[in-house]
Amino acid sequence: MEPTDQVTDQQAAIGILTVSDRAFRGEYEDRGWPAIRQYLDAVLDSDWRAVPRVVPDEPSEVQLALEQMVDRDLCCLVITTGGTGPAVRDVTPEATEHVCQKMMPGFGELMRQVSLQKVPTAILSRQTAGIRDRCLVVNLPGQPRAIQECLDAVFPAIPYCIDLIGGPYLTTDERRIVAFRPKKARKG
Ligand code: MTE
Repeated sequence: MEPTDQVTDQQAAIGILTVSDRAFRGEYEDRGWPAIRQYLDAVLDSDWRAVPRVVPDEPSEVQLALEQMVDRDLCCLVITTGGTGPAVRDVTPEATEHVCQKMMPGFGELMRQVSLQKVPTAILSRQTAGIRDRCLVVNLPGQPRAIQECLDAVFPAIPYCIDLIGGPYLTTDERRIVAFRPKKARKG
């Protein structure tokens, strides 16, 4: 686990939360958060810092990590990976719903739709998204290959969503992802 990156005023804090019993116990190398970090490094043009964390599939642990990433670390976006399936210990969507004031079901709907083009078991993911204060929380399945498949689909809408909840103005490398904003919301 790397320490939280150095903070500067201009940086957007983005939480990357791996939810996995086995990754938490060190039974396998967690490829989830490094892959999400790599994805964000490739896609984001604006300055950002990662707030990475690994927790077991325990509702209270997932909720606490989400609360701390939003309330203490002031993340504008938290991306979770894992714990979205039907198994008994898969509780990430419930923990997300528990800490969020508003749910954003379109994220899960779109991610499942694009994932279904790749794998029929995409319907097994209950991944969702929601808003806690000024932060958007987005769930991804635990499969590392799902990271790009899902984020490519929803990322065009993420910067404007964060504008709307009072977060920092995120910009993307348009060769990778074109962030959609209505004309009146564009800066520069
Ligand atoms: N979505 C994508 N894009 N790619 C995948 O490989 N795996 C599916 C599904 N969604 C998958 C996917 C499978 S097999 C499961 S069980 C569910 O996500 C839940 O995964 P999780 O419990 O690791 O979150």
